[in-house]
Amino acid sequence: MRNKLLPALVLALFAGPVMAADCEFTIEGNDALQFSTNLIEANASCGTVKVTLKHTGKLAANVMGHNFVLSASGDFQAVATDAVGAGLDNNYVPPGDKRVLAATKIIGGGESTSVDIDVSGMAGKEYTFFCSFPGHWSIMKGTFRVK
Ligand code: CO
Repeated sequence: MRNKLLPALVLALFAGPVMAADCEFTIEGNDALQFSTNLIEANASCGTVKVTLKHTGKLAANVMGHNFVLSASGDFQAVATDAVGAGLDNNYVPPGDKRVLAATKIIGGGESTSVDIDVSGMAGKEYTFFCSFPGHWSIMKGTFRVK
């Protein structure tokens, strides 16, 4: 029994959801303002990377909404600041903002959403993903990297 369980246990410890594939990623957000990862490393050969966001909490989108927004790391704080004014009707993403490289809608507990990202030309630069719901970006953020 022990010999059979050990490999599975080791896999469970070291294979987080983000490491399962280089081209598709699933991130979870919860009611405690947390993303399940702070690093997404995609492979340039993917061409398109799919990110799925799952809200594992119970709170509604207008209370504890989460989205996945991607921008260059140098732009992200300014985008996050401008996002507040965009409002929930715009999923807290400034309409037409070219600094926003990808964004999902805002979701609430139990919901999920996804976005496809064209990663061609993104290798070697630093990007930041974050939740643009007001007040969330300072905690709910991470590095997006294409290698
Ligand atoms: Co959020």
